[in-house]
This record gives sequence, C-alpha cells and structure tokens, in this order.
Amino acid sequence: MPWFERPLLAVVRHEYAQAMRFAEDDVAEVMPAAPSGPCQLYVHVPFCEVLCPFCSFHRVRFNASKTKRYFDALRREIARYHEAGFRFRDVYVGGGTPTVDVEELIATLEAVRTRSAVQSVSVETNPNHLEPDRLQRLRSAGVTRLSVGVQSFDNGLLSRMERLETYGSGEKIRARLAAAQGIFPTLNVDMIFNLPGQTLAMLEQDLALLRGLGVDQISYYPLMTAASARHRMAKSMGLPDPRLRHAMYEHILEELLPSYRAASAWCFSRVEGLFDEYIIEQDDYVGVGSGAFSYVGGAMYSTTFSLDHYCRRIEGGQSGLTQRRALGLKERMRYDFLMRLFGGQLRRDTIEQRYGRAFAFLMAPELAAMRLLGATRHDADAIRLTRLGMYCWMLMMAEFFNAVNDVRGQMREHIRAELEAWNHEATVSVASIGRSPGQLLSQQ
Ligand SMILES: C[S@@+](CC[C@H](N)C(=O)[O-])C[C@H]1O[C@@H](n2cnc3c(N)ncnc32)[C@H](O)[C@@H]1O
Ligand code: SF4
Repeated sequence: MPWFERPLLAVVRHEYAQAMRFAEDDVAEVMPAAPSGPCQLYVHVPFCEVLCPFCSFHRVRFNASKTKRYFDALRREIARYHEAGFRFRDVYVGGGTPTVDVEELIATLEAVRTRSAVQSVSVETNPNHLEPDRLQRLRSAGVTRLSVGVQSFDNGLLSRMERLETYGSGEKIRARLAAAQGIFPTLNVDMIFNLPGQTLAMLEQDLALLRGLGVDQISYYPLMTAASARHRMAKSMGLPDPRLRHAMYEHILEELLPSYRAASAWCFSRVEGLFDEYIIEQDDYVGVGSGAFSYVGGAMYSTTFSLDHYCRRIEGGQSGLTQRRALGLKERMRYDFLMRLFGGQLRRDTIEQRYGRAFAFLMAPELAAMRLLGATRHDADAIRLTRLGMYCWMLMMAEFFNAVNDVRGQMREHIRAELEAWNHEATVSVASIGRSPGQLLSQQ
C-alpha cells in the first residue's frame, strides 16, 4: 500500500461528501435547457431478482405487475426530454437489472431510437439472462454493448455474495459467456476484486479464466463499501481487507495489460475506442428513471427515489427531477480532473478551451500534489497517469462512488417504508423460487 493512501483517501472522502450535497430548498421545478449538441442518456431500471448484499445502487425486488407502469413512465420521460430539444447519441441502460422484462426494455429503446440518432446502446444484465433468444432480441433492438455482472467465478465467493443460487455457478457463467461471444460488438464482464475471503490465488484463478474466455472488455472494480452499506455488508458477507487492495490491483494490471488496453483505471478493452461507462465523454448526460442523476449545463440533478412518486409525477406531466445543485467553477474543474484522468489523460487543449488559464491557477495545489506523488506525468499535449497514478485514480473513483452511494442511501432512507412494502409484495410473488420470505426481506 503506498504511504499516502490513507491521507489521500481521507481528503477525497471529505471533499466528495461535500460535493454531493444537494441543498434541501434547491428542488428542481423546471427541466434544464437542452445543450446545443447531443448528450448521453442513462436509463435506470431498478429491478432485480435477488438483492445482493454488497450493492448500494437504487434497486428493488422485481415485481412483474408494477414493472409495466414504471417502464411506461420511463418512455414518457424520454419523450418529454425530446420535446424539450434534447437529443441522445449514446444510451446506457443500467440498474438494477434492465433485462428483467425484455419486451418493455425493447419498447423503451425504441422510444429513444425513433427520436434521436443513436450510435451506441449499452445494457447491463446478469448471467442467468444470457439465453440465446433474449440475446438475439436485444441485438436486433440495437444493443451494441452487453455488460454482464459476473463478480467472480469462484463458487464460494458467489455464495458469499448470495448470487450463486439465482445467477448461477462459475462453471455455468463461463459456459454462458462463451456462448454469448460474438453476438454484440462489445461483450463486457463486470468483476470485483478485494472481496472478503478472496485470496490472491482466487484472483489469479479468475484472471486465468477471463484470459481463456477472451471477452472484449473487462471492468474490474474494487469492492466499494459506502458508509451507508458497511453495516449491512459486515453482517452478511463481511468487509474487505484494504491492505490487499494494492497487490490485487497490480496483479490485475500484470495479467490483463499484455492483451488489453486500459480504457480507464478499472476498465480493460481489447478493441480501441471501447468506452468505460464511468467516463462521460460528452459533457452533459441525462438520467431518466427513479433515482437517476444528471449533469447538465454545470448543474447536477437527481430524480425522486420513490418509485411511486416518480410514476405519479411523470403521469401528471411533471419532470422526474426533484433535486438540483449548481456546481461552482472549481467544483467543475475538479470533476473534469477526476473524470478525464480516470480515462488516462487530461488534454491541455480541452482544458484551455473550457477554462483558459484559470485551470492551472485554481487547480495548482491538486496538480502539484499529484505530480509530486508520482501519480501524473506532465507532457506537452496532456497530463497523463503513471502506473501508480492508475492505482490512485482507481481509489479516488471508488471514493467518488462511495459518496454517490451514500447519497443514494440517504434518499432511500427517506422512503424506507415504501421500499419495504415493495420488496415484501415482490417476496410473496417470488417465494416460489425457493427462498424464504425472511431471507428475502433481510436483503434490502
Ligand atoms: C449495479 S450492477 C447492475 C447490473 C447487474 N444487476 C449486475 O449485478 O451486474 C453493475 C455492477 O456494479 C458492480 N457493483 C455493484 N456494487 C458494487 C460494489 N459495492 N463494489 C464494487 N462493484 C459493485 C458489480 O460489478 C455489478 O456487476
Ligand atoms: S449487483 Fe445485485 S442488487 Fe445490485 S443491481 Fe446487480 S443484481 Fe441487483
């Protein structure tokens, strides 16, 4: 572990917690103005068959009857953005598990593609949904990148993550991934390292299996433990040992970099130009659905986390946005600094165009600190990450997501009763798949 890891994490943790604070009275009443060019669209589908104990995303148990109403609201919200002049080039559908209802998902993709000149469509899924028919239908609906949540091929770890029963064993997942190859321009696999109980030998085994499969893209996340999720995780699967993180990350780079290129500090691609979902190339992005974030015109927005409130607002002709926060100049610079270097480089012409000379002046402490630590290299055309810098940015990005997840945790706490009722109702309808209602309810 580098000597500065703890102080660096303490500083960024504090900063990101401040940056993610939505003001109580800053409720969004109007839609943001549409930017001049196309932007990225994020569509949130919060339904999952099983709620994994490590996950802090906004998700609820899949409930077939309520899902239809939600997707209908999504399509209306998408239409509303188009009416306001927004156009979308790249679409990312995340969750939750967007493929729980393929009919509804396809109709929703159609709602965007008929109104915008869409170039790429990325969809997240789980291994149990990799059935030939479902995959072909997704491809025909324009999906260009399928991202499959694997986490690990180790059955002991999958069981500890409570994924073994529903999402399948390591052997089954491998067979399904092998059969899914070649259908989409990009097949991405999501993995997690530094899981509780994971040894270096287990990580090596996962890396060897991944190399054998040769998928187009691998996203290898460190296990993120937002403050709001630590208690739940400690009780169920345990907490990670931070002392192993650096060695594990180095191992991943050693094993993957010979045949993959780092598209970001935690995403590795075989093909040039494959994007990492966490780097927003276009500046503005719009998030639709309950609990989705947007960044438009230098302000951050969030939609309501209450699924019921979300549907009612959209059905009543309102926007789903309920929170807004305008970012100051320095905050926007810091955001660019984090996001662009996470992708490997910060081009000087981009910065000059956007901020002029103010960037070098206002960001002097951050620029100097990272250079002194040996995390960045200052070339004539761009600032670039060193190998140590990749580790630093991976840590900082994880802290950024922990801060985002803490906001999600707080928002979800406000609607605890609704989430409990929703999950209880869904429990009754899925009890037939073999889990006891007690088990299911404890997974919130
Ligand atoms: C939010 S899930 C949505 C897609 C799908 N439901 C799945 O499980 O993959 C996308 C990915 O986020 C990652 N993820 C979720 N919680 C995480 C955590 N606490 N730490 C690291 N990665 C996490 C997992 O790798 C997961 O595959
Ligand atoms: S990680 Fe688990 S709980 Fe989170 S979105 Fe994926 S399936 Fe749902």
